[in-house]
Amino acid sequence: MIQDQFGRLHNYLRISLTDNCNLRCFYCMPEEDYDFTPTSRLMQTNEIVALARTFVDLGVTKIRLTGGEPLVRKDAAAIIAQLSELPVQLTMTTNGTRIKALLPVLKDSSIRSLNVSLDTLQAEKFFFMTHRDQFHGVMEGIQLLLDHHFHVKVNVVVIHDLNDNEINDFIAWTKDTPVHVRFIEFMPFSGNRWSSNQVVGYRDILEIIGQKYAFEALPGLKNDTAKAFHIPGHQGSFAIISTMTAPFCEGCNRIRLTADGKLKNCLFSKGEMDLLTPLRNGMDIIPLIHQNIAEKAERLGGQFTPEDFEKMVGSAIENRSMITIGG
Ligand code: 5AD
Ligand code: SF4
Repeated sequence: MIQDQFGRLHNYLRISLTDNCNLRCFYCMPEEDYDFTPTSRLMQTNEIVALARTFVDLGVTKIRLTGGEPLVRKDAAAIIAQLSELPVQLTMTTNGTRIKALLPVLKDSSIRSLNVSLDTLQAEKFFFMTHRDQFHGVMEGIQLLLDHHFHVKVNVVVIHDLNDNEINDFIAWTKDTPVHVRFIEFMPFSGNRWSSNQVVGYRDILEIIGQKYAFEALPGLKNDTAKAFHIPGHQGSFAIISTMTAPFCEGCNRIRLTADGKLKNCLFSKGEMDLLTPLRNGMDIIPLIHQNIAEKAERLGGQFTPEDFEKMVGSAIENRSMITIGG
């Protein structure tokens, strides 16, 4: 059992498979030229499986694969196949560009639900935001997942004056399509050009939707990061991840493992614990895991509060960039 000093049980592990990605979302990549981590410094397939097993032995029941983009990793298929053998709920967050190529692998795996990142329903804006002409590939990927009966959540990072005018277009999409749209408040990470006035808060998002639709709140679970809603007559649903304006740290059950094998006890934690080097040296990593979780801050990595983020400048946050954390 992995428990922190606030009594929070940690049973959900997010493993980043790579910090490489075939898109260039400006809010995720650092501003300066970014060098992807060389393969030798990344966890290898057998190391990922060994670490995952250790966490499962310690009570982890859910594993999410993230990136960068997990499906650009050459051995992604082998990793997915091996992790599928573990007694956990296996899921993935992907940018959707490689779904078509990996559909057989996904179908053979234990994965039944995926989160696909898509911030706009307009091809031109997609190109502006990601610097890659992949909008139609992502839409095709989402459709393939739906055709093959995967549960699909669509992650939309809402940014003021960029895509907040599309909130109700996403809602309209859920009418006849069983996608579950999750609007995410824009968060600060190293080098991501965040500014507080670009954050569209949870209440504002609800207000925009309320102007056009009557929605009902769905009951929440203790560890939920998203507040979920349903619109009568819609096949899909929507949710809001209010990290900035209404964080959900009390119920946090997440641990993150970066692609270079470092444990992060919070999305916003400054410190991290190297597990890969000790693993390679044949050391017992279990005490290191407990130590790292014991040091977990009560909320938001101890770096800011919902009351003071509006005065904050993004560069004041000490962290990795999102592409090296994986969300
Ligand atoms: N703020 C909010 N969400 C972000 N993501 C990436 N960067 C940010 C940010 N700065 C999202 C991605 C992906 C998920 C893993 O995190 O869009 O859906
Ligand atoms: Fe790639 Fe996702 Fe980051 Fe975009 S947000 S650059 S798709 S890892």
